[in-house]
Amino acid sequence: MEKEKKDRGQWASSLGFIMATAGSAIGLGNLWKFPYLAGQNGGGAFVIVYILIVIFVGFTIMLGEITLGRATGLNALGAYRKLNKKFAWVGGAGILAAFTILGYYNAVGGWVIKYIVQFVTGGVSGDSAVFFGEFISSPIEPIIWALVFALATAFIVWKGISGGIEKYSKVLMPALFVLLIVVVIRSVTLPGAGAGLEYYLKPDFSKLTPAAIVAALGQVFFSLSLGMGCMITYGSYLSKDENIEKDAFIVPLMDTSAALLAGFAILPAVFAFGFEPGVGPSLMFITLPSVFAAMPLGAVFGLLFFILVLFAAITSSISLLEVCTAYFIDEFKWSRTKATLVLSCAIFVLTILSSLAMGPMANVLIFGKNFFDLLDFIASNILLPVGGLMMCIFIGYFWGIDNAVAEISQNGKFAFRLKGFWTVLVKYIAPIAVGIVFLNMLGIIKF
Ligand code: PHE
Repeated sequence: MEKEKKDRGQWASSLGFIMATAGSAIGLGNLWKFPYLAGQNGGGAFVIVYILIVIFVGFTIMLGEITLGRATGLNALGAYRKLNKKFAWVGGAGILAAFTILGYYNAVGGWVIKYIVQFVTGGVSGDSAVFFGEFISSPIEPIIWALVFALATAFIVWKGISGGIEKYSKVLMPALFVLLIVVVIRSVTLPGAGAGLEYYLKPDFSKLTPAAIVAALGQVFFSLSLGMGCMITYGSYLSKDENIEKDAFIVPLMDTSAALLAGFAILPAVFAFGFEPGVGPSLMFITLPSVFAAMPLGAVFGLLFFILVLFAAITSSISLLEVCTAYFIDEFKWSRTKATLVLSCAIFVLTILSSLAMGPMANVLIFGKNFFDLLDFIASNILLPVGGLMMCIFIGYFWGIDNAVAEISQNGKFAFRLKGFWTVLVKYIAPIAVGIVFLNMLGIIKF
């Protein structure tokens, strides 16, 4: 029993939980995806829609998931199964999503480490598009960097909840915000930054297509780490003294601030040096190095920027691994050491395949997608929205709002001010919004 408890673990403090949870949320989704999505989908208009979805859907599901975790003290699958056997598969799908996402997240984490090393040894010289293309398509090198990233992730998870995840998040998260603000100040004070600021802040609603709204919703799920049992898992290490309504408010606030700041760090600089904001995924790995190369002291700012990206990525990858680890500790009584080791190796098989999909295996297409894009599509576009939708249905109509409210307020110990608002959101607004967007994405309804 003692050993089991030790393998499971608990947060040592409320601040530690908030830092770890914000660490999970703030990741490549904020720094890499958000700025280019805003760049492609109308700048300010996208930002407004994004914020609305965070408030109405993100907050709702975040609070729901933390509640399920704390109420049961179990991993994603165990939590659902304890409350209602018929819903166990929802938790299972979440664990599968974590496994899948970490498969390709490791690869991108490896790219980030490569860029850090590159900036230390003199920056990305020459044509950054050629540099990036040659690097990610080579067969061995990206896999080695991904391995370094995966090992760092495994090490922190192996150290446990308070001695690993919490300890590192408490240092890395504040450091990330400091570095981000330094880069933002550099970016917005560049001559010519004004055009970027205008683009970012002035909404162009004509670009706000249904596809942009779908992208915003998917991005909220991904960025807040929702729909895959991550918040259930992290919530399961909480004590009953924690005011989780407050946490479900603070974490999305921190995550959205980080995303907005990332836009301020990237878009003005991109405009100042005459680049295109809407180039898509290559914005961070191709456009930014050229921006840094053109900037005074660019090597220093480039290095700082990619270090902050690494901090963000690693506090997210540990949460993905922890979702899987917790399942094997709870359900199969594995030790933490065995769970992290076996799972990291299994996930790394996906990482190798996703890395090869950028080069030698680029022509191997499944449903018209290479392996990397396939993993991202299955997880972000199918598993996460289904997980979020089912969570709302489960809490709203099966487990019951009353049980959830009792858990959140600890039977009246905490005020739960947003009770009425949250109830309406969980039962109606969030599931309907997610359902419509999901059906649209699958092509079943068109608007
Ligand atoms: N939220 C993380 C990011 O923004 C990614 C992530 C998704 C982490 C799902 C955990 C769970 O990069």
